[in-house]
Amino acid sequence: MAKPAIVFVCAECGAETLKWQGQCPQCNRWNTLEQRSVLRRAAAAPQAPAAAGEPLAAVDLPRLPTGMGELDRVFGGGLIPGSVTLLGGEPGIGKSTLLLQLANHVAGATPTLYLSAEESAAQIGVRARRLGIAAGNLHVVADTDLEAVMAGARERQVRLLIVDSIQTVQLASVGTAAGAITQLRECTAQLVRFAKTEGVSVIVVGHVTKDGAIAGPRVLEHLVDTVLYFESDASSRFRNVRATKNRFGSVGELAFFHMGESGLREVRNPSAIFLARSGEAAPGSIVTVTRDGRRPLLVELQALVDAMRFGAPRRVAQGLDSQRVAMLLAVMNRHAGLSLQEHDVFVNLVGGLEVTETACDLPVVLALASSLAGKTIAQSMIAFGEVGLTGELRPVAFGEERLREAAKQGFTTALVPKENAPRARIEGLEVKALTRIDEALRVALS
Ligand code: TYD
Ligand code: MG
Repeated sequence: MAKPAIVFVCAECGAETLKWQGQCPQCNRWNTLEQRSVLRRAAAAPQAPAAAGEPLAAVDLPRLPTGMGELDRVFGGGLIPGSVTLLGGEPGIGKSTLLLQLANHVAGATPTLYLSAEESAAQIGVRARRLGIAAGNLHVVADTDLEAVMAGARERQVRLLIVDSIQTVQLASVGTAAGAITQLRECTAQLVRFAKTEGVSVIVVGHVTKDGAIAGPRVLEHLVDTVLYFESDASSRFRNVRATKNRFGSVGELAFFHMGESGLREVRNPSAIFLARSGEAAPGSIVTVTRDGRRPLLVELQALVDAMRFGAPRRVAQGLDSQRVAMLLAVMNRHAGLSLQEHDVFVNLVGGLEVTETACDLPVVLALASSLAGKTIAQSMIAFGEVGLTGELRPVAFGEERLREAAKQGFTTALVPKENAPRARIEGLEVKALTRIDEALRVALS
């Protein structure tokens, strides 16, 4: 017979200890340990054979379209039944708006329940009217009791359940306040169980902390299938949804949205949205073609080279890897005779985007040299390519696709590594295939 054991659980971080202490040994908060009795089964003698499992079913699950093609792409082709998604983002970014629009679309085809634990049903009604959502199939409940909501969802056989937000719902059985770590973990675990047993898609909103991560233990992100972040950059008019984890699709895909008078509108062809260049060409600026997930994206890269002010030269890279920039500075010094050792160097990817791929190497070098020389690079020119330690240009993936997108956006000259030259001519684009950075510098700044 199992005997209940007494343990003490920290209400903040969920750590367990066997003895009561004033301070949690894990998170060091005071007076957070609470007594619990748990049933622990003694390691059982081997019983009946373990479940034999089933043959692997090689079927594709039908996905639920969200009504927004861009968002479907981030999900990997729509919502998977039985999957749990965590959507994080700062207050006011538009999480509730996005999910209400999504729920409204899905509700047209299949029963959907929107749980709002933050706003009253009347407040949601006001928002729905603003979004042009007619009262109909979509059911909205304003409650904080997760157990009751799941029971209701089961009864109504909903196929999509939205929980807005995980920090404001609670399970009575856990016995701590909503938002406490044990609550967050238990509620998420219950929702995962609910999704898997009922085959319901669940989307959970999560607030983020000051440093931008979803509030709560990391284990929340481990429990769910997909983690999305809804972000925007102060300097950008657009907001984007990005997957940082996806068991049913690839990460790195971005969906762009624009918040308007009547809700969020997706930006269908976002490849040039970061290209709001002012009229005049300026030294230190060049456009490159990078990739977000599976799409080419044109971005402007800016560099500023300034005489050093204090003891050590500054190297600041926004949106790019600063180690990589340091390496490129060394390569420029050694293989192009451009020394920036006495200079402060700033490099910025316009639009608040972050890029890790090496295709930005060549444009970084060109932008730096352009700023140093005070010479402009033609505004109709784009460049991409990796730079090796010996000053050689190395090809990057999807060269031809990048070139086509640049041509589509009206660029007329492209500087690329020799191996990235397209096999067939691209209408309207003159491609200069190069082998070394000194050659690229001559072409770009002549
Ligand atoms: P909201 O969806 O409430 O954000 P979250 O749930 O992430 O906190 O964000 C709404 C913000 O967007 C709010 O500042 C009002 C604005 N908004 C619009 O500009 N247009 C609209 O149609 C709606 C519904 C909201
Ligand atoms: Mg909200």
